[in-house]
Amino acid sequence: MNSFSRLAVFVSLASLFPLNAYAADSKGTVEVVHWWTSGGEKAAVDVLKAQVEKDGFTWKDGAVAGGGGATAMTVLKSRAVAGNPPGMAQIKGPDIQEWASTGLLDTDVLKSVAQSEKWDGLLDKKISDTVKYEGDYVAVPVNIHRVNWLWINPDVFKKAGIENPPATLEEFYAAGDKLKAAGFIPLAHGGQPWQDSTVFEAVVLSVMGVDGYKKALVELDNDTLTGPQMVKALTELKKVATYMDPDGKGQDWNLEAAKVINGKAGMQIMGDWAKSEWTAAKKVAGKDYQCVAFPGTDKAFTYNIDSLAVFKQKDPGTAAGQQDIAKVALGEDFQKVFSINKGSIPVRNDMLNDMGKYGFDACAQTAAKDFLADANSGGLQPSMAHNMATTLAVQGAFFDVVTNFINDPNADPADTAKKLGAAVKSAK
Ligand code: BGC
Repeated sequence: MNSFSRLAVFVSLASLFPLNAYAADSKGTVEVVHWWTSGGEKAAVDVLKAQVEKDGFTWKDGAVAGGGGATAMTVLKSRAVAGNPPGMAQIKGPDIQEWASTGLLDTDVLKSVAQSEKWDGLLDKKISDTVKYEGDYVAVPVNIHRVNWLWINPDVFKKAGIENPPATLEEFYAAGDKLKAAGFIPLAHGGQPWQDSTVFEAVVLSVMGVDGYKKALVELDNDTLTGPQMVKALTELKKVATYMDPDGKGQDWNLEAAKVINGKAGMQIMGDWAKSEWTAAKKVAGKDYQCVAFPGTDKAFTYNIDSLAVFKQKDPGTAAGQQDIAKVALGEDFQKVFSINKGSIPVRNDMLNDMGKYGFDACAQTAAKDFLADANSGGLQPSMAHNMATTLAVQGAFFDVVTNFINDPNADPADTAKKLGAAVKSAK
């Protein structure tokens, strides 16, 4: 059964349970399910909550801990089965289409806001297509994250005698060796499947280039998934893994980020939500920390767009609240303050083209410049590890194979490439 039918069967069970609408207090209550629970993420989402409450609505926080959102998605599915979906939920990429096809998302509620706020003109088509279902907005995009970053503590680099940020995999290994020799953790990394695959996709991009990345992780081409370039990428991944934090098994990404911030580790491969932790710790980009594209990927941008999907609700107050959240979320003020806290860049084209005006730091300015350039060059590619390239079922197949590969001391890259092809085929 493909992932589409799996979700549909899951959700059709919903009719067995009574619908449980939330009582509206104030102008209306909207429950929002999301997984923004680290210190920096919470600071960002609190910006939205505060504005919505100022507008007279009640924000019911449906935070579900767990980086990458796998636990939040499980909770969301059981809520849907129980006939009790929240007003809004953080859903991304192709999953938005799957949820919409179950009939649970509201195709009307955002119409008037999208028209009056001119969303079609504000958003790149690639972005608006992701959040529309059959031409209607069913989600509001809040920001753009770049995933292929390397975060560096320059003080630690200096102590280990490393002069420049690594620009190639060879330089990355050389830096890793020096960090190890100087007694630092070379690479802060939490061994959770989504974090393993965040590193995997960066290495695939570095070794196989944009075309190889696209064929393997977006188009899911079997020959590319099982071919010699993938074997090479897996071989390099195994080497990158030798620099990972030995205490990182099962560790949350933000606790690993803290090791770089506190000077225990030298680097972390992570999307730019990692910057939210640096910001929350009052550290300054370019001075206290450096952000560079993962070695060999500076002409590419793996993107990850956070968006809040709207679920059908009976209560008119909730619908008004959903509209208010949508309106606030794409407004200039929120786009600025949220992204500054979250580590991302705005989703609005006018802002991406004028980042200096809004006081964004060096990392965000680089991200916006690269986003616009890579959109023209073809270097802009959806992140597999962050639900933008495939369905969750296919993503799950990648996660299993990649994490087993990293953890199995005897794993063979050629065998693993074959396993990858087979696992992806059966999950499609
Ligand atoms: C989300 C980010 C979040 C990160 C860590 C990503 O998949 O898009 O918003 O900060 O996971 O949880």
